[in-house]
Amino acid sequence: MSERTVQKTWKSKPTMEGAGVRLHRAFGNAEAGKIDPFLLLDDFYSDDPDDYMAGFPWHPHRGIETVTYMLRGSVAHEDSLGNKGVISDGDVQWMTAGSGIVHSEMPQRDPEYLRGLQLWVNLPSSRKMMPPRYRDITSSMVPVVEQTGGVKLRVICGEVDGVKGPALDIVASPEYLDIEIPAGSTFSRETPAGHTVFAYVLEGMLELPGGKDKTAGRVTLVLLGDGTLVRFGAAEEGARFLLVSGKPLREPIAWAGPIVMNTDEELRIAFEEYRDGTFLKG
Ligand code: FE2
Repeated sequence: MSERTVQKTWKSKPTMEGAGVRLHRAFGNAEAGKIDPFLLLDDFYSDDPDDYMAGFPWHPHRGIETVTYMLRGSVAHEDSLGNKGVISDGDVQWMTAGSGIVHSEMPQRDPEYLRGLQLWVNLPSSRKMMPPRYRDITSSMVPVVEQTGGVKLRVICGEVDGVKGPALDIVASPEYLDIEIPAGSTFSRETPAGHTVFAYVLEGMLELPGGKDKTAGRVTLVLLGDGTLVRFGAAEEGARFLLVSGKPLREPIAWAGPIVMNTDEELRIAFEEYRDGTFLKG
């Protein structure tokens, strides 16, 4: 086992998306291919409903999977498959757009605070046109594993100490964990060699192995280098972070807005079909 050192860290940046939602983007189109198979990570947090009430009205997706994880507050959703509901505190929505889905995602007014994350996972060329599917995972379905030192892991996707997360059969075989390290404790985990691995700090302060930066605070993305072992500590205030890994696809990326394909021709067809009303395949 060799320890993964930190390749790079950076803070998510203010971005405007949807119909005028102020959010923070950890990575997106500008980093296309660098965090393969992951395409985008948005963090929306605000105590001002004006920042998010405009929401994300009806829009298409093709060629990707999106994972929405609500930490606090609620988002109402509806899609072309006929799914409709509200996801709130601790719930996860794992949506495989495949050949195409059209949906709306509308944050609900919260008097205090709203926070959620959306990750886009790329699909390989052989699965980009797979039938769309949708999974609602409620907070109570997400197992919590406790390890030595009081480390707590919410297993959304992947397996920890024999406990499997509820998001099964995801194409890029990713691991998606929400981890809390109490002050003064350390966390370590083996990850598959060759997989892309990053951490995203939700709260507190992570202590990092090696690298230029010794710590990473709230809303910092930590991209790890080659190796297998991931090891973090936590400073006085403890830390809560996402640990995400996945197998790189190493395929060409043609990306326009909510659609990510392999070639410009496939993108052109997708937008033409959306205009013509032939986008949805079933
Ligand atoms: Fe969307």
